[in-house]
Amino acid sequence: MAEAVGFRIRPATEADLAALEWGGEYRRFRRLYRTALEEARRGERVLLVAEVQAGVVGQIFIQLGGAFAGQPLSSGYLYAFRVRPEYRNIGLGTALVAEAEAVLQHRGFTQVVIAAAKDNARALRLYERLGYSRFGEDPGQWSYIDDRGKIQDIVEPAFLLAKPLVS
Ligand SMILES: CC(C)(COP(=O)(O)OP(=O)(O)OC[C@H]1O[C@@H](n2cnc3c(N)ncnc32)[C@H](O)[C@@H]1OP(=O)(O)O)[C@@H](O)C(=O)NCCC(=O)NCCS
Repeated sequence: MAEAVGFRIRPATEADLAALEWGGEYRRFRRLYRTALEEARRGERVLLVAEVQAGVVGQIFIQLGGAFAGQPLSSGYLYAFRVRPEYRNIGLGTALVAEAEAVLQHRGFTQVVIAAAKDNARALRLYERLGYSRFGEDPGQWSYIDDRGKIQDIVEPAFLLAKPLVS
C-alpha cells in the first residue's frame, strides 16, 4: 500500500454499520456496534472511522467517562480500535488515536486510557510510542450478545495504559 493514501477521519453514522463488520469478520459485534451508535447519539461515546476512497478501513471508539478500571470520570477510554490489514503501517492508526485524543481534550478530559491484550506486542509498541504508559492490568473478562443472540464470554488479559492530556 502506498504511503500517500488520502484519508479522512469522521464520526461514524448508521450508514457505516455494515462496513464495520468487515465483510463478516466482525458480524458478531453487530449488536454492540448498534448500541454504541445509540450511546453516541446520547453523547456517551464518540465513534470515529477512517475512510479512504474505497470506504471505511479503520475505527476507534471512545467511551466518554464512566467507570473503567478504577479510573476517574475525567478519563476517556479508547476501544474497538482496528485498521484493515491492507491499510496498516501507513499512519491510519496513529491518526485515529490522535483524533480521539483531540476529541477528548476538546471536551475537557484530562486523561486517555486504553487496554491492550498482553500478547498484542504491536499495539503495545504503538501506544508506548504515542506516549502511553502502563499503569496496571485488567483480567479482560467481558460478555456480549452476538448477532445470533448468543452470549459470548471473553477472557483477554490486558495491560492498561494511560496518557495525560495537557491543555
Ligand atoms: C493496532 C493497529 C490499529 C495499528 O494501526 P496502523 O494503522 O497500522 O497504525 P500506524 O500505521 O499508525 O502505526 C503502525 C506502525 O507503522 C508505522 N508507520 C506509521 N506511519 C507510517 C508511514 N507513513 N510509513 C511507514 N510506517 C509508518 C508506525 O511507526 C508504527 O510502527 P510501530 O509498529 O513500530 O509502532 C492495527 O495494527 C490493527 O488493526 N491491529 C489489529 C487490531 C488491534 O490489535 N487493535 C488494537 C487493540 S488494543
